This record gives sequence, C-alpha cells and structure tokens, in this order.
Amino acid sequence: MTTVEQVQDVATAAASGASATEHFRKDKSPFEAVKDTPPERVSTLINDVLAGVHATIRKHKVTYDEYNALKAWLINVGEDGEWPLFLDVWVEHVVEEVNTAHRQGNKGSIEGPYYVPNAPELGSKGTLPMRPDEKGDRLVWNGQVRSIDGSPLAGAKVELWHADADGYYSQFAPGIPEWNLRGTFITDDQGNFEITTIRPAPYMIPTDGSCGKMIAAAGWHPWRPAHLHLKVSAPGHEMLTVQLYFPGDPHNDDDVASAVKPELVLDPKEDGQGGHTISYDFVLDPEN
Ligand code: DHB
Ligand code: FE
Repeated sequence: MTTVEQVQDVATAAASGASATEHFRKDKSPFEAVKDTPPERVSTLINDVLAGVHATIRKHKVTYDEYNALKAWLINVGEDGEWPLFLDVWVEHVVEEVNTAHRQGNKGSIEGPYYVPNAPELGSKGTLPMRPDEKGDRLVWNGQVRSIDGSPLAGAKVELWHADADGYYSQFAPGIPEWNLRGTFITDDQGNFEITTIRPAPYMIPTDGSCGKMIAAAGWHPWRPAHLHLKVSAPGHEMLTVQLYFPGDPHNDDDVASAVKPELVLDPKEDGQGGHTISYDFVLDPEN
C-alpha cells in the first residue's frame, strides 16, 4: 500500500500542497497515456495557450516588472508543490465540463488533489473509518446506483473521501490516521448502499503558499463549500467523479474551484438527534 510521507509535521496548508505533488508523482504516469498524441495536436494546444498569453500582454500592456513577478511566482508554485492545487482549482472544472458534456446520467465535478485509490472496503452498508472523537455532525446516507435505463447496478463501487471538520484530508495533512474519512462501498443486489459519516466543514485552499499569495494579491477568497468527494464505477459504465454539497453553504455560489452545480446540492433531513439523513442516487452512463 502506498503511503505518503508527510513533508512537515505541522498542518500547514503548503504541506498539504506538497503532499499532493508527491502523491500525484507516485500514483500516475501521465505521459504514458498521451504518448501517441500527434505533434499537430500538441502544436495546436501549445500555440493556442501562448496566443492567449500574448493577447493578455498586449491588451493590458504588461510591464517588465509584472513579467518578472510572474516568472518568480511560477518558480515558487513548483517549489511549494502547488501545481496540483493550482490546476485542480482553476483549470480542472473546464476539463471536467468538456469530457462529460455527452452524459445523460449524473453530472460530475472535479476530482481535486486529494483522491487516494484502494480505500478500505466496507460492503454495502458501513461507517467511514474515523477517530473515536471525530468532530462533526452525523450523516447517514442512503442511495442507489443505476444505469441510465433505470436498472439497478449491483456490485457498483462507491468510493467516498472527504475533509474532516477542520477541513483537512487524511494522508495530506499530518497527524490524521491513514484512511480517516475514506472508504469504498459495494452496492448490494438492488444497487443500494448506506453510508454513515460526519458532515465535513467548508474547505479553505492553502493560503500560506504561492496560490494563497496570488489569491491575496488579486483580492479573492480561498474558500470551497463543504463537500463530499466520490468516484462511482460499475462494469460497462463510465466512471463518475463527483462532489456533493450542502444547501445554504455561503460558498456554493462562489466556490474558488468553480465546481458546484445545482444538481449536486444535497437535501439533508434532520434526524432528530443532531445529525442528518440524506438520500442521493447515482445514474451512470454506459460505455460506448
Ligand atoms: C483543492 C482541494 C479540494 O478539497 C478540492 O476538492 C479541490 C481543490 C485544492 O486545495 O486544490
Ligand atoms: Fe475537496
């Protein structure tokens, strides 16, 4: 099992960013998947990105001081390990949009930097691994996985991961048990699952690294609304990567990562004991 060394033992946000870089390098071989891309496409993509940069410089008469600040900032993003963070917050949502536009089933959303495969399997009904004193209100979620024709998908895999009540993810912030708030559920013969967890807190992307500097310099805010991350998969179907949100969160309308869609906001009901129940089903598109 892969684990990630914590780069620092204090929960600094920049340390989470650096862990994300380390994780990405360990688990993926991104160049392999595009090794057959024709040079024409590579050339077109690079030229179009550069054309956008050139147009911005001309339009706003960018100065040498600004150009040098950009160079310094780009160097720092790499040194801070914040490229996964930068790309997942400001770029991934458009990649997600163009790659899932054909779907008839569930809307998806960005994966973000904190997914880890092979979280503990918990059957069709279970509680995410958590600390005995885990903070946060209880959430019990009943759902079903179906295909777009309405047929239930038995044996579908529902992978859930989310931040704790302080906004930290296990394996990316120090001092949290390895699989805390991460688990894999397998739907029963009716396609159903039941998951017990806690309600996560709104999440602030790291402000003590280069992305934080950019946000401050631009007068933006660093917040994402509270969210649950999921990957839902079944044989013969496209994998759904999605996030679910909670109604009333002040950042549902101005998520720094632009990843909220109205269809992805839950409708929690009070359970009378301080917690909530939710009901949310997934509909997967068959593979072509
Ligand atoms: C980031 C963190 C998240 O939890 C997320 O869902 C998307 C992006 C980030 O810090 O980059
Ligand atoms: Fe997240």
